[in-house]
Amino acid sequence: MTQYKKILGQLNVHPEKWLVTGVAGFIGSNLLETLLKNNQEVIGLDNFSTGHQHNLDQVKAIVGEEKWKSFNFIKGDIRNIDDCKKACESVAYVLHQAALGSVPRSINDPITTNESNITGYLNMLVAARDAKVKRFVYAASSSTYGDHPDLPKVEDKIGNPLSPYAVTKYVNELYAQVFARAYGFNTIGLRYFNVFGQRQDPNGAYAAVIPKWVSAMINNESIYINGDGETSRDFCYIDNAVQANILAAIVESEDVANNVYNVAVGDRTSLNELYNNIHAGLLPKLSYLEEAKPIYRDFREGDVRHSLADISKARNLLGYEPSHRVGEGINVALDWYVNNISQ
Ligand SMILES: NC(=O)c1ccc[n+]([C@@H]2O[C@H](COP(=O)([O-])OP(=O)(O)OC[C@H]3O[C@@H](n4cnc5c(N)ncnc54)[C@H](O)[C@@H]3O)[C@@H](O)[C@H]2O)c1
Repeated sequence: MTQYKKILGQLNVHPEKWLVTGVAGFIGSNLLETLLKNNQEVIGLDNFSTGHQHNLDQVKAIVGEEKWKSFNFIKGDIRNIDDCKKACESVAYVLHQAALGSVPRSINDPITTNESNITGYLNMLVAARDAKVKRFVYAASSSTYGDHPDLPKVEDKIGNPLSPYAVTKYVNELYAQVFARAYGFNTIGLRYFNVFGQRQDPNGAYAAVIPKWVSAMINNESIYINGDGETSRDFCYIDNAVQANILAAIVESEDVANNVYNVAVGDRTSLNELYNNIHAGLLPKLSYLEEAKPIYRDFREGDVRHSLADISKARNLLGYEPSHRVGEGINVALDWYVNNISQ
């Protein structure tokens, strides 16, 4: 039995109280779904800046009325310390996801990104420390590797940040380290590598590549590839990220806490390969894609060329074992988008 299955079994017998910030967003709503399905009590905090009520509605429809009663939603903002304190009351574990994602957004508006990602994050750390939560798990990012040339990325070798967003995520890690030293507070940072899957927002200027392309194909619109298409990423299906969060909160062995972990699969996929995978997956459903071809344009500012994770630290210390490789995750995600995006 995997470590994850074992822990879910234990949690079902002894339910805990969790806070998920950013609960109306992509990763947050998937955490909520798994926690409720496993009979946990969940507090959710979100200001709907990039998250949606329809994500919460979908989780409710999936888990059913009875389990939904174990969820309490607080509409609030992590930039407001009182909202953070209220959300942390009598919580055992915090899964802190609320932040403004997107490298280009941070380049266009570094101040707003800084407010949510650094001030808001610090508010959450203080509120969680004061509430004496057992562990504070937070969304870190692969962008922290910046311009470090080594592949695959190993946690202790980072370069210079390439965007304001990357600065904010690195500052999160620094604050976590200092809170461990100064206050003995227990944190774990999860450096996500391009997470994708159901409920990732396909709309808006800052949409991530997979939902953006899938939605464009479904709507028979043009697809743009930034650069030559040989830029590569370690795309990580959402169920793997959910697993990492739950393991990070619960695993207790020595040396686990006050660390950062790569959360990925360890598979490298170029944008050209990704395009071909999505195209091949949708073609049987959408015959008009037969003639579709991507349009190549300039590289995007602030993007790293290649990103690939070494996941052995999460494997060894957390017992993390990705359940979905890229292709498997894409198949599940494509079905979801086809059923949930109106043409
Ligand atoms: N998706 C990825 O590939 C990826 C990669 C690396 C890191 N991350 C990090 O993971 C976390 C979740 O990302 P996601 O992809 O689910 O994004 P998302 O935009 O879908 O979710 C973020 C949620 O946080 C909420 N939020 C933002 N600012 C807030 C504030 N000030 N107060 C309260 N709520 C606020 C938003 O409304 C949204 O619901 C973020 O911290 C992001 O930086 C994501």
